[in-house]
Amino acid sequence: MFIQVITGPNLNLLGTREPSIYGSETLADIIVRCRALAKELGADLDDFQSNHEGELVEKIQQCMGIKCDGILINPAAYGHTSIAMRDAFQAVRIPFVEVHLSNVHAREEFRRHSMLSDVASGIVIGFGADSYLLGLRGLIDKIQRQSATSNK
Ligand code: DQA
Repeated sequence: MFIQVITGPNLNLLGTREPSIYGSETLADIIVRCRALAKELGADLDDFQSNHEGELVEKIQQCMGIKCDGILINPAAYGHTSIAMRDAFQAVRIPFVEVHLSNVHAREEFRRHSMLSDVASGIVIGFGADSYLLGLRGLIDKIQRQSATSNK
């Protein structure tokens, strides 16, 4: 099983960016934890971060050309605005889980809307860095259950 982790804008600054909201772990720390969990659950994992919407769309598209079973994404601010990312997910038809470190529903009004949530396989919001781990576990579990059903 292969999982692509995608992280959106400004999350390259994790560790120093508003630690009271996003915690003190760096993105590299979170990815190390994701890799360890993926290994434990028998999956390979690649990670990608970009501050550019077009690059994020291209990465989602590229997942179609490789054997990618699922995508774990923290779209960051683009999750609230990006029709292009939503369209890319609809086009590639690869199951994905949307995660956010902070509880976006307890913050500014504009963070309450997501362009992705209703087309995601699942969403995990508000558990800090653990949102990535919980989302990854849920995604891998769902893919495994789906492939077990389709192999019957
Ligand atoms: C975020 C929440 C978004 O609203 C914000 O723009 C981010 C980070 C989170 O993980 O909590 O950059 O996605």
